[in-house]
Amino acid sequence: MAIFATIVRMKKKRLLTGLQPSGTLHIGNYFGVLKPFADSYTDYDSMLMVADLHALTTSREPAVLRQNIIDIVKDYLAAGIDPERAILFRQSDVPEHTELAWVFECLVTVPFLTQAHAYKDKVAKGLEANAGLFNYPMLMAADILLYNTEVVPVGEDQRQHVEYAREAVTKFNNAYGETFDAPQEKIFAGVGVIPGTDGQKMSKSYKNTIPLFGSTEEIKKAVMSIVTDSSGEHPKHVHALHRLFRTEPELVGLYEQHAGRYKDLKEALAADIDAFVAPMREKREQITDADVIRVLMVGAEKARERAASKMAEVRKKIGLAL
Ligand code: TRP
Repeated sequence: MAIFATIVRMKKKRLLTGLQPSGTLHIGNYFGVLKPFADSYTDYDSMLMVADLHALTTSREPAVLRQNIIDIVKDYLAAGIDPERAILFRQSDVPEHTELAWVFECLVTVPFLTQAHAYKDKVAKGLEANAGLFNYPMLMAADILLYNTEVVPVGEDQRQHVEYAREAVTKFNNAYGETFDAPQEKIFAGVGVIPGTDGQKMSKSYKNTIPLFGSTEEIKKAVMSIVTDSSGEHPKHVHALHRLFRTEPELVGLYEQHAGRYKDLKEALAADIDAFVAPMREKREQITDADVIRVLMVGAEKARERAASKMAEVRKKIGLAL
């Protein structure tokens, strides 16, 4: 049986994705990344990484970063990720990530990195980018390539980063011979853009989020603040969110019945979100910090084993193995 399980595992495609620990998850994160991941990860040899080194490009508060790391792992576990079936680990527990990133940074050019969206946007706003932000795509390339990842599930905004990882593959293989395979992004489709309370894409940076693990009151408060267009019978943004929780035929009836009564519709949405979130919220409350630390320790061990073996190969290829 154990041998059979090993063979099945070997045959599965390798998948890795990561999220920065940057505060409480919202409904958009859940339906955009977490749920599609939770629905599909058992079909792959999956790794889920907490990108805490990437978070250092913006974090300046140690206590907050620490809490965010703990929180995101709790979020993952409460949302249904099973650490027995996926390697759940954090980037900073595996030193090979920064080591391999350096190797890639020595291969790609400065003009190439200046084309990366995150860096360009920062500069376009007249802000000073730190060198970590500049090198961000090569650290992400290392995250992906260290584990011979074939599939990288990400939101649309991360597509360019996976292209950068492919460029790192080309540069490395051209210089040192076939070592890495090109990874492929898997853009979560189907859910489309999830609108926030102001109708723009739901995002922490727009302050328009509905918290995933919020209390009943917090959810209600956010939902009641959804911007509605007073001209129609049909509040567009309320409906766009509601379809994540109910089928279209159910919604048709509900929206007919409450046509023009936005407050009722919002209350119905808040109740539906609350009912959906309640079991996950309860599960999350049971997870202790010690549980998180234990899960990460096990994950780190598994990840390190894979990373060390790939990095040994890289060191040999580049002339660092004596
Ligand atoms: N850059 C990703 C984000 O901000 C997080 C990330 C870091 C990642 N390393 C990764 C995603 C590797 C996929 C694969 O969302």
